[in-house]
Amino acid sequence: MDLNGKALSQTIKAEIAEEVANLTAGGNRPPHLVAILVGEDGASRTYVKNKENACSRVGFASTIKRFDASITEDELLAEIASINEDDGIDGLIVQLPLPGHISESKVTHAIDPSKDVDGFHDINIGKLTKGEDTFISATPYGIIQLLERNNIETSGKHCVVVGRSNIVGRPMSILMSRNDNPGNCTVTLCHSRTADLKSFTLMADIVIVALGRPEFVTADMIKPGAVVIDVGITRVDADNEKGYVLKGDVEYSGVSEKASWITPVPGGVGPMTIIGLMQNTLKAYKSKFAS
Ligand code: GUN
Repeated sequence: MDLNGKALSQTIKAEIAEEVANLTAGGNRPPHLVAILVGEDGASRTYVKNKENACSRVGFASTIKRFDASITEDELLAEIASINEDDGIDGLIVQLPLPGHISESKVTHAIDPSKDVDGFHDINIGKLTKGEDTFISATPYGIIQLLERNNIETSGKHCVVVGRSNIVGRPMSILMSRNDNPGNCTVTLCHSRTADLKSFTLMADIVIVALGRPEFVTADMIKPGAVVIDVGITRVDADNEKGYVLKGDVEYSGVSEKASWITPVPGGVGPMTIIGLMQNTLKAYKSKFAS
């Protein structure tokens, strides 16, 4: 059965909007997210625009700060420092990737951890690893909620995560191993150097794939009844009006016949990622206004 991220994202957006309306009814300002966009990367522009649209739908204020790709690292760090100081801003994200002359690591660590709604700062990753309350980065947070809100049992299950990126695979592996619900899985983290990947995925009750390789996971790699979460979304050339189709990392038609649950692409994990960001921004705001 499909895990419908589109429908769940709409439900949660409505919940956030209601909470924001209640929180601001007494005269408080709305939550405010700032996104920094450097350069002209087409995908990044689309992502940031989608984040801005989501903010307006739930009643947040949002500001996109656009900078030319020629901005220096020091100028960008100064901009971040001034946003850190601004009490009228709850959350700050710097859209990645950045131009090569700017250190992503320096930029990530310049953001005040209490405004780091992407959850990329070492302090927040450390808290996540220890099971402490923090900002969980958007995609893993969205996946956790897809599992939770569909009452998918994870305790005692074997979860195989394929992909070890800092944005998805690695935090996902940590979350699924935590003593929490969802969580309490036995986790195997596989990656591009894993030998005999199929022998691991075939053992999995839950498979989470975040590789960026279209239709890489096929039905012969999946145990009947497994839960399959597909994080991939790649444009593949096609003979249609748009000139492309979106493909996940999982070969949907075959795998969906074996899986008990599967996220479609599009409409599965994708719509849930922005939800995590909205929830983190609301959390940052509430730590000031509703404690
Ligand atoms: N680039 C790709 N994904 C993300 C994300 O979740 N946050 C930011 N800031 N940049 C990204």
